Amino acid sequence: MNFEFTEEQKMIQQAAKDFAERELLPEIIERDAKGIFPEAQMKKLTQLGFLGMMNDPKYGGGGMDTISYVLAMEEISKHDSAVAVVMSVHNSLVTWGVEEYCTEPQKEKYLKPMACGQKIGAFLLSEPEAGSDATSQRTTAEDKGDYYLLNGTKNWITNANCASTYLVIAQTHPEKKHKGINALIVEKNWPGITLGPHEDKMGMRSSDTHSVMFTDVKVPKENRIGDDGFGFTFAMKTLDGGRIGIASQALGIASGAFERALKYSKERKAFGTEIFNHQAIAFKLADMAVKIENARNLCLKAAWLKDQHLPYGVISAMAKQYCADIAMEVTTEAVQIHGGYGYVKEYHVERLMREAKLTQIYEGTSEVQKIVISRSLLK
Ligand code: CAA
Repeated sequence: MNFEFTEEQKMIQQAAKDFAERELLPEIIERDAKGIFPEAQMKKLTQLGFLGMMNDPKYGGGGMDTISYVLAMEEISKHDSAVAVVMSVHNSLVTWGVEEYCTEPQKEKYLKPMACGQKIGAFLLSEPEAGSDATSQRTTAEDKGDYYLLNGTKNWITNANCASTYLVIAQTHPEKKHKGINALIVEKNWPGITLGPHEDKMGMRSSDTHSVMFTDVKVPKENRIGDDGFGFTFAMKTLDGGRIGIASQALGIASGAFERALKYSKERKAFGTEIFNHQAIAFKLADMAVKIENARNLCLKAAWLKDQHLPYGVISAMAKQYCADIAMEVTTEAVQIHGGYGYVKEYHVERLMREAKLTQIYEGTSEVQKIVISRSLLK
């Protein structure tokens, strides 16, 4: 087994680190406090080729592997998870699914502008009454012959405003339950689409999250992904990869908090010495380091399996659950190590702690990941 990264992977990691430190860190506290979307930063992310980074160059993508994606996601999430989540949703939940399952004309029209980052994508599955229980879709895509009539509401949609292309999951044949669900490509500017207000979230406050309402939206039949009834399988397969993205985001949040706590522990003095010299602090840092190492290895294993075209759904669920849970633990300890300074904004760890909480909730809660993992144990 080779744990060495290639020269290309190291370059991508370094580019993401430099970008995050130079472009994201300086104004993150203000963007987070005021909920300002990182518009200018997204343009630079596009120039780096990180939107569409794993898509085939023949569609305008970066042709990078999933390991590079994990490395880039970790570096960016150390400083700005709002940018990281745009990158994760766009790459894992949207452009990957379009490249994998769409027809060539669909790819020509929708993938090409997204693979080069000119347009952003969003994935619309969650509903007011269908979060973890994703089969219970209430949004309907009524079959009207040569088009679907879309009605319903989607909740907590990342990229809802900045995206031009939506992948919408909706029910066409309720009697068939999950086998009656379709995935449709919808353009945000079509008549009948309205957005709720920007969600005032606890963390990742500058990411673009809204509810989206559909009222009699006409979606041409040619915009359906796959055969009639393929939508639920499409969503599940897409989420398998999406979980690698959010796992790496949680990993970055944890390692960002750890690096800050380690630095602080070597500078801050108490009882006559740097606090790192107190075993109570050193042992906390040792525990945090072990968790982060395990988390990174799980992310990289899931990414490696995906790159090898081997089954990766269960490992990605393990990575998502473990990374999110340890992100919460590590960020909480980072705040503790900082003491009072940890509870104020300028030291960043309170923000990372708020961000960690979201990774336990979106793209499948930690409990949903345990459903996936425990069911695999029965097989
Ligand atoms: N790949 C392929 N097929 C799959 C699959 C997978 N990973 N997982 C399930 N399926 C198939 C099953 O084999 C089954 O098919 P058959 O009936 O033909 O056998 C079918 O799908 C139904 O599966 P289950 O019986 O397992 O379905 P369930 O109702 O018990 O739900 C679940 C399973 C794992 C809990 C699923 O509902 C789930 O993942 N829920 C969470 C949804 C989620 O992650 N939402 C987040 C939204 S995205 C988001 O947050 C984006 C953002 O903006 C940040």
